[in-house]
Amino acid sequence: MSDILITTPIYYVNAKPHIGHGYCTIATDVFARYFRIRGHHVHFLTGTDEHGVNIERKAKDEALEPQKYVDSIAPLFVDAAKALGCEPDDFIRTTEPRHKAAVSELWKRLEAKGDIYLGHYEAWYCASCESFYTEKDLTEPDASGARHCKIHKKPVERIKEESYFFKLSSYQDKLLEYYKDHPEFVTPEGRFNEVKRFVEEGLRDLSISRTSFRWGIPVPGHPDHVMYVWLDALTNYLSATGGPAANEADEKEAYKKYWLLRNDKAQRGSTNPNTRVIHILGKEILRFHAVYWPAFLMSAGLPLPDAIFAHGWLTIDGEKMSKTAGNVVSPEALSQVFGADVARYYFMREIAFGQDGDFAPKNVLARYHGELGNGLGNLLNRSLPFVIKQFDGKVPAPDASLYARPNEAQLLGVLKEASAQAAEALDALTPHAGLDAIWKIVIAANLFFDQSEPWKLAKEEGKKVELGTVLYLIMESLRAVTLMLWPVLPTKCNQARAQMGLEPLVLREGVDAWPALKGDARYVPSFPVGVQVTVGQPLFPRWEEGADKDLNMRLGIEKVVVDSTKAAAAVPASKHSKNDSSNKESSKEVASHDDGFITFDDFAKVKLKLAKVLTAIRVPKSDKLLELSVDVGETEPRTILAGIGLHYDPDALLGKTICVVVNLAPRKLMGRTSFGMVLAAKHIDDSGAEKLSVLFVDKDLPGGSGVQ
Ligand code: MSP
Repeated sequence: MSDILITTPIYYVNAKPHIGHGYCTIATDVFARYFRIRGHHVHFLTGTDEHGVNIERKAKDEALEPQKYVDSIAPLFVDAAKALGCEPDDFIRTTEPRHKAAVSELWKRLEAKGDIYLGHYEAWYCASCESFYTEKDLTEPDASGARHCKIHKKPVERIKEESYFFKLSSYQDKLLEYYKDHPEFVTPEGRFNEVKRFVEEGLRDLSISRTSFRWGIPVPGHPDHVMYVWLDALTNYLSATGGPAANEADEKEAYKKYWLLRNDKAQRGSTNPNTRVIHILGKEILRFHAVYWPAFLMSAGLPLPDAIFAHGWLTIDGEKMSKTAGNVVSPEALSQVFGADVARYYFMREIAFGQDGDFAPKNVLARYHGELGNGLGNLLNRSLPFVIKQFDGKVPAPDASLYARPNEAQLLGVLKEASAQAAEALDALTPHAGLDAIWKIVIAANLFFDQSEPWKLAKEEGKKVELGTVLYLIMESLRAVTLMLWPVLPTKCNQARAQMGLEPLVLREGVDAWPALKGDARYVPSFPVGVQVTVGQPLFPRWEEGADKDLNMRLGIEKVVVDSTKAAAAVPASKHSKNDSSNKESSKEVASHDDGFITFDDFAKVKLKLAKVLTAIRVPKSDKLLELSVDVGETEPRTILAGIGLHYDPDALLGKTICVVVNLAPRKLMGRTSFGMVLAAKHIDDSGAEKLSVLFVDKDLPGGSGVQ
């Protein structure tokens, strides 16, 4: 069993929390809970980043002392985490004495190593990013000559000041070597490659102090300088554990455990191979975590984190979340409208962790009614009454000799395989894949219920044992599912357990409670026989007709994009091929000449590419639509909706190479946006029945290959 320190980034307090922050905290909370089920000791850390010029200015705008201002915002982040059902073990604020002391000590260690020197710094600075940029990182000058930050779209400032520098350049080779020796240091792989490219291009020394503002931690011995906010902020991962300190005796046990005695081949030799540090963060701050942070740690002689996972960004109904767009959703509103559990479920199920994803209120409801209500809730609601009526409410003993019958064997097989798959997916920090696996059990158990026809068994003479075995296996399936789903739906799972007569989940360190793992010879049902079940309130009651009418208003969303041209504009640039300006136009009919021919130029307007299918799911409430995530050789996968659901099972498409149109204007279908079109052959037979056949490619060519 491991000791695991898992962290979110610490959030800037220059604005109130929104669900973009919430998404990151939820994911981290889900992993923390999952690791606990597996018997690990987990320390889940989050907090707030409270220094920097941006916050100093914000406080000024509010006519408050910076400390007063940050004191008014930080608690909102504590409340936001609570509202979303997250239970961090610690919440660090960078204005706390424990943090300031650790940062000063770290500075001294970098200085003692000879990695800090005094110089002058001149660069473009984006106050919103708290980051310096070179010209190539910025937009071209506009009419007034101003350059803009590409992330915040705000004008940057030219800054020249005396500054201390960190010798980042001397860590270039060490970092590259470290990346080579630790291929799993950063996930997803594509993002790791971006980091490597950035370092390979050459690292310049990093300016790590400022004299132009005061709101920061003073540089030891040079109080006219305050520390660069990223050096300050990243150190929270150390300071919250209680170190480093000038005096070793003042360093806390947690700091020693997570940062000093940890196994790290490159740094210290194997001392405690079971301790892991995992950072979860958004893709735009990966460089700080995967380049600067490891360099600081190397300089201080400390081991590096074990894993850094960069997740994607959340849009609201296809649009970037911003005050100007009027679509900033607060964690509280989200929780009030859907409940924390349902919101958590939606984020973890809908979005492939690592990729950008969309929060569309209508889709939350579709998943709520479709998967949670009709899938999980229904299984519970229709099974419990049988236990109550036929067995006095006591879970019956099974006859294990019946487990070899085809239906029972099938269900037990799914329980074993899917539980193992879910564990592997969660170990890889891909909760969406974990939920896919868990849902196989929900589907299999509902099917088992239908096939076993308990309502008939209940009426037939001499079938009591058979009926008891069927119900026992369904109760066991529910036990396994509500255990594995607990990290995502903690409250609902405990409510379900209560109805099944089980105590709320109690996890014990050192005890792995996961139902089944890879390599298990067989699945061993372990539902306690004889416990008393009760039918309670439905877990996922249907929303009344019309209750979703004012959803957006209740969530605080003022404007929603409905037309596809706007949705296209909201798509991150990386979703389109670089020189593909036609993406921004709506698609046109290919012009044909009078003689029925088209020119080659006409044909060339349609950009066709090979695409590898990475994921495929059914769009809720649609028989026809499948949502595919495909690799077309771009930096990120594309989402393409295809009307082939009546002809293909999503799983049959996984890993296949298909042909897609990549420059069709994005289209909205069932509230989702499609960024391309799948090519398929269509035949209508004499009876009018339609047959569709997707064009697969028989050779193994990479996604993104051209099609002519
Ligand atoms: N303070 C720094 C982090 C320092 S960590 C040593 C910071 N703060 S932030 O508040 O701007 O962002 C914190 C996290 O929230 C980032 O991981 C960021 O990706 C995430 N999100 C903020 N808006 C988001 C979305 N719209 N969608 C998903 N996550 C986003 O950067």
